[in-house]
Amino acid sequence: MTKNRQWLLRKRPEGMISQEHFECVETEVPELGPGEVLMKTLCLSFDPTQRGWVNDMESYMPPVALGEVMRAGSVGQVVDSNSDAFRIGDLVQGLGGWQDYFVTQGAALNQLPQGVTPEMALGVLGTTGLTAYFGLLDIAEPIPGDTVLVSGAAGATGSIAGQIAKIKGCKVVGIAGGPDKCRWLLESAGFDAAIDYKHEDVEQRVQELCPERLNIYFDNVGGSILETALGQLAMNARVVLCGGISGYNALEPSPGPNNLMNLVITRSRMEGFIVIDYLQRMAEFIEDMGQWLQEGKIVHAEDIQTGFENIPATLQRLFSGQNLGKQLLKLGEPEPR
Ligand SMILES: NC(=O)c1ccc[n+]([C@@H]2O[C@H](COP(=O)([O-])OP(=O)(O)OC[C@H]3O[C@@H](n4cnc5c(N)ncnc54)[C@H](OP(=O)(O)O)[C@@H]3O)[C@@H](O)[C@H]2O)c1
Repeated sequence: MTKNRQWLLRKRPEGMISQEHFECVETEVPELGPGEVLMKTLCLSFDPTQRGWVNDMESYMPPVALGEVMRAGSVGQVVDSNSDAFRIGDLVQGLGGWQDYFVTQGAALNQLPQGVTPEMALGVLGTTGLTAYFGLLDIAEPIPGDTVLVSGAAGATGSIAGQIAKIKGCKVVGIAGGPDKCRWLLESAGFDAAIDYKHEDVEQRVQELCPERLNIYFDNVGGSILETALGQLAMNARVVLCGGISGYNALEPSPGPNNLMNLVITRSRMEGFIVIDYLQRMAEFIEDMGQWLQEGKIVHAEDIQTGFENIPATLQRLFSGQNLGKQLLKLGEPEPR
C-alpha cells in the first residue's frame, strides 16, 4: 500500500493562521473506484483565500471541515487511473489539497496543456492570471492614458494586473511592502512608480505621483489603503474589489471606509468579483496571456518553497508579506512520460 501524508484542519483559527491549526497524519491510499484517478502531488498553490476557507461561515465555497485535508489548488502527475480520460504520466490540475496523493473522479481534474509547467499552471496561466486579467479588463475597463493604482502590487495577482494595465496603455503605480518589492516593481515589472506602504505616507505619495487622480484602483488589500485610494478618485473612476488581505486574520472586522460618499461625488463605481465566474472564459485569457508571454511583455515571479513539513508555514508567508509573486511549494518533479 502507498503511504499518504496529509495535513488536516484540526482547529479553526481566530486571528493569525499557523501550524497549530493543522495536524500532519499518515494514511494509506485507498484502492481506486470506477472512474477514479490517483494523482501524485508535485506543486501546491498558496492563496490568501485559503484563510477564508477555514472559517466556519458561508462563502463562495463551503468551509473546510474539521478533520478534513486542507483544501488547496495543486498540480500533480497521474500514477494510476480508472478513467478513460487520463493516462499514467499525465500532468493534471485540481483541488488536490495538502497531501502527497489525491484520489478523485477524473471530472475534478484538468489536463495541463503541452508545454505549460506546474508553476505557470498555478500562477500566471492559472486562476491567478485569470483573476488579474478579468478583474482589470472586465471590471475596471481600462482606457489608454488612465492612471491605475494597484495594491498588493508585488504579489501574484497585483503584479500581473499592473502589467496588463501597462500593456493597455495606462500609467501604473504599485503599492507594496518594502524597498525590495518596490525596486522589483520598477526594475522588473515595468511599473511607472511604486509606493512602499510600510515606510512611506501612502496618501502623500499618491497625491505626488498621481496629481491627475486615479481612474482605476485595483484593490487586493482593503483596510486603510482602500480608504486612502477612495479619497483620490478621478471622475467616473472604477474601483475593483479583488481582495482585502489586511482583514483576513483580523479578530474583529475592521471599520469600513469612512469616505464612500466620494464614490457619489465622483460618479465612480466599486465592484467585487470572484474568479470562478470567469472559468468558462479561460480560452480568451489564455490566448492573450500566451501571446504576451511569448512577446516578453509579462514578467512573472514565483516564490517556490519545498518540504512537506513546511506547508502550513508557507501559507503564513502570504500574510507576513514574505512572498514575491506567486507563492508555491514543490513536492517533486514530474517523471518522464
Ligand atoms: N476575487 C477573486 O476571485 C480573487 C482571486 C485570487 C486572489 N484574490 C485576492 O487577491 C489578493 C492577492 O492574492 P494573491 O494570491 O495574489 O496573493 P499575493 O498578493 O501574492 O500575496 C499576498 C500579499 O499581500 C500582502 N499583504 C499581506 N498582508 C497585508 C496587509 N495587512 N496589508 C497590506 N498588504 C498585505 C503581502 O505583500 P506586501 O509585502 O506588499 O505587504 C503579500 O505578499 C488577495 O486579497 C486575494 O484574496 C481574489
